[in-house]
Amino acid sequence: MKSSILHTSCLGALLVGALLFGNHFHVSAQETKAVYLDATQPVESRVEDLLSRLTLEEKILLLHADSKFTTAAIPRLGIPRRWLDDGPHGVREDIGPDTWASAGRTDDFSTAMPSGICLAATWNPELGFNEGEVIGQEARWRGKDIMLGPGVNILRTPLCGRNFEYLGEDPFLSGVMCSGYIRGEQSQDISSCVKHFALNNQETERGSINVEVAERALREIYLPAFKAAVQSGGVWSVMGAYNQLRGQHCCHNDYLLNKILKDEWGFKGLVMSDWDGTHDTKQAALNGLDLEMGTEKKYDDFYLAHPYLDGLKSGEFPLAGLDEKVRRNLRVMIATHVFDVARKHGSFNTAEHQAVARQVAEEGIVLLKNENHALPLDERKLKTIAIIGENSIRLHAHGGDSSGIKAFYEITPLQGLVNRVGTSVNIVFSEGYGKGGGKELAERAVATAKSADAVIYIGGLNHDKGFDCEGADRKDMKLPYGQDKLIQKIVAANPNTIVVLEGTMVEMDAWLGKVPAVLQAWYPGMEGGNALAKVLFGDVNPSGKLPATFPKKLSDSPAHQMGNYPGTDGTVTYAEGLLVGYRWFDTKNIEPLFPFGFGLSYTTFKYSNLKLVTADNGVTAQFEIQNTGGVAGAEVAQVYVHQKNPSLMRPEKELKGFQKVFLQPGEKQTVVIFLGQNAFAFYDDAQKSWVAEQDTFAIKVGGSSRDLPLAAEFQLPEKVLMK
Ligand code: BGC
Repeated sequence: MKSSILHTSCLGALLVGALLFGNHFHVSAQETKAVYLDATQPVESRVEDLLSRLTLEEKILLLHADSKFTTAAIPRLGIPRRWLDDGPHGVREDIGPDTWASAGRTDDFSTAMPSGICLAATWNPELGFNEGEVIGQEARWRGKDIMLGPGVNILRTPLCGRNFEYLGEDPFLSGVMCSGYIRGEQSQDISSCVKHFALNNQETERGSINVEVAERALREIYLPAFKAAVQSGGVWSVMGAYNQLRGQHCCHNDYLLNKILKDEWGFKGLVMSDWDGTHDTKQAALNGLDLEMGTEKKYDDFYLAHPYLDGLKSGEFPLAGLDEKVRRNLRVMIATHVFDVARKHGSFNTAEHQAVARQVAEEGIVLLKNENHALPLDERKLKTIAIIGENSIRLHAHGGDSSGIKAFYEITPLQGLVNRVGTSVNIVFSEGYGKGGGKELAERAVATAKSADAVIYIGGLNHDKGFDCEGADRKDMKLPYGQDKLIQKIVAANPNTIVVLEGTMVEMDAWLGKVPAVLQAWYPGMEGGNALAKVLFGDVNPSGKLPATFPKKLSDSPAHQMGNYPGTDGTVTYAEGLLVGYRWFDTKNIEPLFPFGFGLSYTTFKYSNLKLVTADNGVTAQFEIQNTGGVAGAEVAQVYVHQKNPSLMRPEKELKGFQKVFLQPGEKQTVVIFLGQNAFAFYDDAQKSWVAEQDTFAIKVGGSSRDLPLAAEFQLPEKVLMK
């Protein structure tokens, strides 16, 4: 007979049964775990079981913060404190508990991944998965439960201070990339939290600005990445945005949260507020908010704390609504294995994590210009290289506000170049520009440039407030600190000048025609310097493509040409409607500086043999790509759709499929991309439905939105309505 073991867990969850049969005393080890603790039970049964054990007051505890980034534990039931943390680029340092000041810990470093826009520029969903997985592993290692990312707000204006965190201007690309990231992160028993739902497209007046946007633009441009996060990424948490939509704050916006996210899309996880984004108890109670964070009040006074409790007690708010919120919180806990012994423990700063950080940077760096094969550089032909520019030595990982990371280390471009060629080439460095820098700094840089065989100028933006930083937008699209003039002087002193830009898009007209090569390096994370050096010296063939149009000048871009940024009297009206990014430039025939999807390589690719094959509920585009140059490389094949005779205005073309293909020199591959019926659909507000019309569609294929050598037509035989 097995001896019985009396488990006295704090939950009283194990029942020990002793049965008496006649004179015989049997102790049967009848151990029954509470359903919610039993990992073999279905999630919904566990949720209902735990819900049924909570008191009213305990339920309320689950709906609001008890410090800057936690919610309260309920020890009686073994519910642990939940730890939330930023963010999209790695696990942020700990702060608080009750202030924004650093907690002063020494164990809260993490791997700093390239920023969101760099990840998007890889056009490689597998890397999205890998980046998410790394962050998930480090989050578990640090004891976190919910990670506040990815950010998928669409790049509506080049000026938005948070564009570097987001995934660019295209809803389809953003949706695919964020889904990969979420699946990777959530595979580690962490909940991702996609943000900021929705229309947080500017930082100016972000806490109050009211967005007026047509229903079609909302559905076709601003929501699809979130929808993909829910339906294809399976995201467990969504963060509301600070701004308002049609007069109601997004953190408790009935239309966005109840009607669209939960009813239409079937989202079963929790909606949390952005920090201090909740403004009203009744709206918070009724309009779909499930977890209130960061309100600038005492925790008990949060809108979903005592004020909500009072309303529940008085009958103002239904108890069923409370249970629904609690259920969503519990579901996320159970789905991420918070109660299970087998929950993953994570890992940190492993060689694999560093390799992923490097690979994302290597694939995200975009080669914008390369005249006469100026790149890659050949170290055998160079005695002295001048590295010029503050960004050669500047650390970025910790900046930008909530997405900043206390990195284990950060390889700057200068360090990366020293690592790569320091023993074979003489490297000289000059800062050239900087916040306090003036004429003297510039003159020294020009002299340094003269003394070298080649110059690598590393400039661009940084995370100072007013550039790529949360809380404010940029004032213009110009390079700061007199860099336009400096680059011109340097290139005059040494025509062999390669320009590397960190940060988001800037105007380049002043010098672009004069320099032979330009690389866009974004914020490439803690391995960025190594990745950049590898691209510059040809160990890595660049394969990044722009996830956003680079306009020649700010006034060419839609929100600015229409004059509806940053809004008047507290409201911004998105008058450009659907025509965001390349949809605008293509439809209006405006020449961009560099188009969406653009990026050069050290090799060349040839596209051929496009065939369209009708498939179930759609069509497959099949074509060949061949590497026709001398080095191995990757190409992002892009598929755009144009409708011939739409009954409503449609953008000139829209991205509906892509695939990154790695090819050896001479190698040819057949690429097959499926376009479902939804690839042909637009949103019709009159029918409140997505509609793919019976019509002819041109399908265009190539390596950038403005270089589409293959085209074929497809006939949709009948009109289809879809969700
Ligand atoms: C940001 C969020 C962030 C939160 C917590 C807010 O200011 O908008 O993106 O997750 O702070 O740091």
